[in-house]
Amino acid sequence: MNAEISTPTDELTQRLSATPRGARLARRLTATQLAEWGHPHDTEVNDTAQHLVAELAANAVTHGRVPGRDFELCLLRLPENTLRIEVSDPRGDRRLRYVNDIDGENGRGLILVTLLADTWGVMERDVGKTVWAEMGLG
Ligand SMILES: Nc1ncnc2c1ncn2[C@@H]1O[C@H](COP(=O)(O)OP(=O)(O)OP(=O)(O)O)[C@@H](O)[C@H]1O
Ligand SMILES: [Mg+2]
Repeated sequence: MNAEISTPTDELTQRLSATPRGARLARRLTATQLAEWGHPHDTEVNDTAQHLVAELAANAVTHGRVPGRDFELCLLRLPENTLRIEVSDPRGDRRLRYVNDIDGENGRGLILVTLLADTWGVMERDVGKTVWAEMGLG
């Protein structure tokens, strides 16, 4: 066995400021991490992951924001070629409202998440909540 061989990491966790800039950064980090995992920037998988993170991060910094508190992005490479995206925000007192109005001005984010992800949901945490989505890595 060669001890020099490093195991590639299957997880990225990053705290980010709850601002539009933080949300953009979440998207960029996702693009970079997916490229590192073998899905370059111009691939469908990379694109889909970016869209999912962009919507979940936008929601975290608008609806899930608590002034002065960060949000957290976590990307996990699961067995069976699955990517799990987790976006955690500090607000636990708001229920997600799934708006089924494709022509409406708002409520497109979670519709897009539903279309792009294989599955998604919300978990409570000690402080706030985690909105997660899973997608295949092709
Ligand atoms: N992280 C969150 N914390 C609290 N409420 C949320 C969160 N994410 C979504 N919601 C609620 O669910 C609703 C639907 O979210 P969705 O992303 O579909 O629409 P939107 O953010 O209002 O508009 P759009 O994404 O089209 O700009 C939001 O308006 C908000 O009330
Ligand atoms: Mg939204």
